[in-house]
Amino acid sequence: MEILKTIRDTKSCISELKKQGQTIGLVPTMGYFHDGHLELMRRSLEKGHATIVSLFVNPAQFGPAEDFDSYPKNLQRDLDLAKEIGVKAVFMPTINDMYPKGYKTYVEVEGLSNVLCGEHRPGHFRGVATVVLKLFNIVKPDEAFFGQKDGQQVIIIKKMVQDLDLDIPIEVIPTVREEDGVAMSSRNAYLSPVERQAAPILYQTLKLLEEMILEGERNVSLLLEAGKNNILKEPLADLQYIDIRSTDDLSPLEELRGEFMIATAVKVGPARLIDNIVLRV
Ligand code: PAF
Repeated sequence: MEILKTIRDTKSCISELKKQGQTIGLVPTMGYFHDGHLELMRRSLEKGHATIVSLFVNPAQFGPAEDFDSYPKNLQRDLDLAKEIGVKAVFMPTINDMYPKGYKTYVEVEGLSNVLCGEHRPGHFRGVATVVLKLFNIVKPDEAFFGQKDGQQVIIIKKMVQDLDLDIPIEVIPTVREEDGVAMSSRNAYLSPVERQAAPILYQTLKLLEEMILEGERNVSLLLEAGKNNILKEPLADLQYIDIRSTDDLSPLEELRGEFMIATAVKVGPARLIDNIVLRV
């Protein structure tokens, strides 16, 4: 497995692979791998791609009071796991290579970036869209892989791909969960044992709303009220939002129709946890 530390080396590695007739699968990550990341890599490999994993904790997507400095890291373990799985190369640029002095260009996917998580993390999705577009331009993937756990991120990236005519298929991999339903996330590492016991409240609440919908409930305010009340029952959970939005354009719904996402973000101790499910009626 190659370890690529500069954009220049990465571009030449990619053009070599393309010359050999290989297709490229890109798995963008911020490292500290869990099984959710490994699933993305496996899927890319299954599809026969020379798989490039980017490992870059992107400062542009963290607010000033957020966890950029403390974001969990275990580089050697990540490299071992990627190698074991069959990844072709890990691209791990420096901040200076990605955002050199005088860097000025950012991508804003309007309307989709300031709702849900965007309302609580101003500038977050601008940073995500910018780094993902840069990664696409550097790696020129034939396909890119993202996890459904970051449901809003996926919708924003797909919209960017469509609006900027990027012609890069995006494959979305279902959320990988722990046995008790907690969505795998690098940020779960911030939870103390007691906080970890509170974390299943997100998925339990999503499942509760799913059950109500399966039983015929279509009134969004009523569903959201039930969701909030359920999260309030967990004393360690500090609800940021629970919402039901169209998966087309994240617009709010009054009555359920078509495909929609029930999404929630909850602070549990120092960790900001997110989860979602996508349903259709
Ligand atoms: O989902 C993530 O880990 C990040 O937002 C991503 C897509 C790697 C961009 O930094």
